[in-house]
Amino acid sequence: MQHPKTYFIRTYGCQMNELDTEVMRGQLERRGLAWLDNEAEADLLIFNTCSIRDLAERKVMGKLGLLGKRKKAHQIIGVTGCMANAKKKSLFRKMPHVHFVLGTNDLHTLNDTLDTVLSTGTKSIGVQSLFTEELDYVGAQRDDKVKAYISIIRGCDKYCTYCVVPYTRGPEVSRPPEDIIEECKVLASKGYKEFTLLGQNVNSYGKDQPSFSCLFHDLLYKLDAIEGIERIRFMTSHPVDITRQLMEAIRDLPSLCELIHFPVQAGSDRILRKMHRIYTLEQYHEKVALLKEIVPNAALGTDIIVGFPTETHEEFMETYKILEEVEYSVAFLYTYSERKGTPATRFKDTVPDEVKQERLQMLMKLQDGIYKKQRTALIGSTQEILIEKQNTKNPELLKGRTRCWKNVLVPGYPSLIGTLCNVHIEDFTHQTLLAKMIEEPLSLIS
Ligand code: 5AD
Ligand code: SF4
Repeated sequence: MQHPKTYFIRTYGCQMNELDTEVMRGQLERRGLAWLDNEAEADLLIFNTCSIRDLAERKVMGKLGLLGKRKKAHQIIGVTGCMANAKKKSLFRKMPHVHFVLGTNDLHTLNDTLDTVLSTGTKSIGVQSLFTEELDYVGAQRDDKVKAYISIIRGCDKYCTYCVVPYTRGPEVSRPPEDIIEECKVLASKGYKEFTLLGQNVNSYGKDQPSFSCLFHDLLYKLDAIEGIERIRFMTSHPVDITRQLMEAIRDLPSLCELIHFPVQAGSDRILRKMHRIYTLEQYHEKVALLKEIVPNAALGTDIIVGFPTETHEEFMETYKILEEVEYSVAFLYTYSERKGTPATRFKDTVPDEVKQERLQMLMKLQDGIYKKQRTALIGSTQEILIEKQNTKNPELLKGRTRCWKNVLVPGYPSLIGTLCNVHIEDFTHQTLLAKMIEEPLSLIS
């Protein structure tokens, strides 16, 4: 087979996948391949996939099916990520034009896999269920120069009954703290300002590796001490593992942003039990109250699933009520999607699609009103924003985010990208706050 010179990776799903793509890009660039922003023409085409909901899988299968009909003869096609773990060998049967399948725990073998495909012309597959080998995160090819994703723990041990992640990404494996610190130091010295720590459940960090003697909050103290790091965020958390020490770290560490993802998933105790979320609503509320006591200006984020099997209208209204009460700053709202191999499949997907959609629309409308209220309350205030880039539509405007993740547009020069600026919030459009600069930047990119 012809050696590829160009590549393209299409990424689906979560931030962890985005980071995995950056790691794969690093491996391919070191091999001498160049990114070609054209899916149809690239010599190597990789789909880095997601399995969390049926729609995510259907999108990829649709694309792959179309490609089978018009693929260039020399083009090599790979499927990586969660769908590779979920579908394994069956992908070759359904999509015979796919050359290799690499799961989330085998991405370090990308170049060896390519060698096998090229030298033997046979198909190659790697779909281990356990994460055993660290990836070369320092060698990742990152396009963003201000914000970076940092993997701190992979996999999940929580086994929520609807979720495919523990089966696709495997059990929790924490990364050694020295490696994380080293990577963050390198990135900080290159001028990166915002670090988002990633894991399916970052709060479990260190529990699987007692020899590290470093739990999540310990890690945060070490990272906050690194010179140049202006902001630390983390994604995502399980409410049960959100500890008082973590809340105190949010209160005490200057770089740690006050937005904390506290995904409730549902508002009824019966549904929470069926979801195996291992907390009651009362326990959830108690934790939120403790967080508000320790960090009064904390903003909360959530994930919600509507239409979980057997969810009644009254139970859905309890979810509605929790959104009304907590007034989350960020809410990701989903309809339940049955995933093969998960325990929830045995409950039977009883809520009709139209009802799920109706419930979703009701929550979206409610949440839109909450966002509007929050943005209105910010008008007239001063906010610290990190300038991320120029606005694509109007390059005279810069795009930044507040510490609590609200989007802001402000007139300014590109030299301000990567700096923290204090701005005065004047107004907002649907999704975005509109601001004016009120002082010189608080930090300048080196
Ligand atoms: N159906 C719908 N949403 C799901 N999520 C996970 N699994 C499913 C599913 N089967 C949602 C949860 C989780 C987020 C990442 O995706 O809300 O927190
Ligand atoms: Fe899935 Fe639950 Fe683990 Fe989150 S905590 S990844 S929802 S199993």
